[in-house]
Amino acid sequence: MAEEAKNGYGDAVVASHDGHSDTHQDTGLAVISDDAVKDPGLPAHRKRVTDTNPKKAKNAERAVFTLFYLSIAGSLASVIAYMFLPIESGQMGAIRLHTLFVGLGMALGMLGIGLGAVHWGKALMYDGESIDHRHPVASDTETRKTAAEIFKIADEESGFSRRTLIRNSLFGALIAFPIPGITLLRSLAPMEYDPVELLKHTMWEKGTRLARDPSGVPIKASEVTIGSAFHVIPENLREAKLPLNEKAKAIVLLMRLDQAELKEREERKGWSYDGIVAYSKVCTHVGCPVALYEQQTHHLLCPCHQSQFDVSNEAKVVFGPAKRPLPQLPITVDEDGYLIAQSDFHEPVGPSYWERLK
Ligand code: FES
Repeated sequence: MAEEAKNGYGDAVVASHDGHSDTHQDTGLAVISDDAVKDPGLPAHRKRVTDTNPKKAKNAERAVFTLFYLSIAGSLASVIAYMFLPIESGQMGAIRLHTLFVGLGMALGMLGIGLGAVHWGKALMYDGESIDHRHPVASDTETRKTAAEIFKIADEESGFSRRTLIRNSLFGALIAFPIPGITLLRSLAPMEYDPVELLKHTMWEKGTRLARDPSGVPIKASEVTIGSAFHVIPENLREAKLPLNEKAKAIVLLMRLDQAELKEREERKGWSYDGIVAYSKVCTHVGCPVALYEQQTHHLLCPCHQSQFDVSNEAKVVFGPAKRPLPQLPITVDEDGYLIAQSDFHEPVGPSYWERLK
């Protein structure tokens, strides 16, 4: 037995009682070939072992509720660990224990629910295939007509189209009302200083010694051999009010190249010392640390999005999404042979921001 009806697209659908349907499409301009690939249908249904064997079904049920109980135990253990392994002492060992057991408890809590739910669905829930036929999503013409009339009446009664001054001022108010929320974002930046100024300057100033990161031991020019690279911080970093914030801007990479391989513009000739050059370690793309130095090619690689900078050529970008070279720190040596900065960077380090001119 088969019955014919129209579907939502005006195509004639013949539905048979075996659950399958054939569609004769109104082709219009479309070309439908005679040997179109036939719908292979669903493979024959295979019963699961839990459908045929009640003992296995019982085992699966046990496994599911055991996983849920494990989840409860994990969540409770996490709370107990939080209470009985406090981190107030500031001891590194206590902090580690706290994070380990709170984390393990939470992981067990989530894992138990996840595994239990999956096992329940796969082993015990209804496993038959069923077909959900598409139905037209649009309302019938009568409903659509009524909706349009309601809109028209609402417009007339409210005077929305007629009273243009009220309508336009409402639009203005709607545009203006998120502005205070955006203004509040200003509070995310430090209040006592201008954030733009903070971004423009780092701790480096004339005479600051270049020191190893993280020990803070000053570096002598004689220690920097050709091909070597040093991660560098200002020697006085520990004296800063917010050392980590300062380090994030002032961190530098120091390398020594054969003088003959350095390409330097005339005005930058004095910024290096005997083949030793210092560049900001903050990537100009989105600020990751440019930490990988390829000695043979003199390329610095940013691991985040693979930008590459050529140290022998003023750290210009040779590959990747970064748009600007790494800023160079002008250096020289003091009377004891230690490397020192000649000044701060001549341009802001790191990625671009609105007020940045170059
Ligand atoms: S942050 Fe360095 S390439 Fe994206």
